[in-house]
Amino acid sequence: MTHFLDINATDTSDLKSIMSEAHRIKAARAGKTKGALDDEKPLDGHMVALIFEKPSTRTRVSFDVGVRQMGGQTMVLSGSEMQLGHGETVADTAKVLSRYVDMIMIRTFEEATLLEMAEHADVPVINGLTNRSHPCQIMADILTYEEHRGSIEGKKVVWAGDGNNVCASFLHAAGKFGFDLTFTGPEPLDPEMGFVEEARAKGVNVEIVRDPVKAVEGADLLVADTWVSMHDAPSARERRHNLLRPYQINDELMAHAKPDALFMHCLPAHREEEVTNSIMDGPQSVIFDEAENRLHAQKAVMRWCLGK
Ligand code: CP
Ligand code: NVA
Repeated sequence: MTHFLDINATDTSDLKSIMSEAHRIKAARAGKTKGALDDEKPLDGHMVALIFEKPSTRTRVSFDVGVRQMGGQTMVLSGSEMQLGHGETVADTAKVLSRYVDMIMIRTFEEATLLEMAEHADVPVINGLTNRSHPCQIMADILTYEEHRGSIEGKKVVWAGDGNNVCASFLHAAGKFGFDLTFTGPEPLDPEMGFVEEARAKGVNVEIVRDPVKAVEGADLLVADTWVSMHDAPSARERRHNLLRPYQINDELMAHAKPDALFMHCLPAHREEEVTNSIMDGPQSVIFDEAENRLHAQKAVMRWCLGK
């Protein structure tokens, strides 16, 4: 069974072929209206379950549209409205869904839920975000970088803020796509050291720099994300904001990066918190290309999972 569970769990050669397929898929849609089907319909006759245990705009719509463009159909399921949210085991849910659908995408809290789903499903399972990672987002981000600047290999990516799930997937991707990663944020919100060590063991230059100005020197790409993720306790908001405020991406900080550095944010953003409007809406921002590229990258991921 070919699951897409994490970037560090996927072979480098597979990731690179998914990426080149994503470029091809995007180019093939040039000039088509949004509702049009693709010329090739590899998901014709396929049903895909999209399970959400957390809110979503981009993941939900991009997977749904992507499946339909490829000729398949979707079923969007809210975790709380399923028996899954009322005590049925993940394993039983996986076995039952496998009798109905051809692929499962799940956004959940614990990584263990994703892994249990994959272990017991007879169909491919895709990670649509857990508390620990968000691999589809980073596939879209690399596609976006490559479109604007060419290969990301050897480039300097700076993650500013919370060392969260999206940061973890950037760390995983650094080892696969060969870019340097600098984390700048407060020590209590460092990324998982296991992921840092795993990347370093693969030869990745991972640096942790507390001073954001020093961190962004020579950066090709600056990345921000929310200071309070969906899995964080709302009561932690004030503490997190106080810790993270010095790491806001604004014009002053951006001025220390390379003049052609790009800015990315997976969205949703909290404008004037982790990033200013001037950066979000400025010439270096590629945030809406990232959002669009979720569609193209995930279509390539789904085709790979199904061997299509
Ligand atoms: N970036 C992202 O995953 O957005 P959603 O939470 O809207 O799906
Ligand atoms: N880190 C954020 C990403 C949202 C797409 C969260 O988990 O809420």
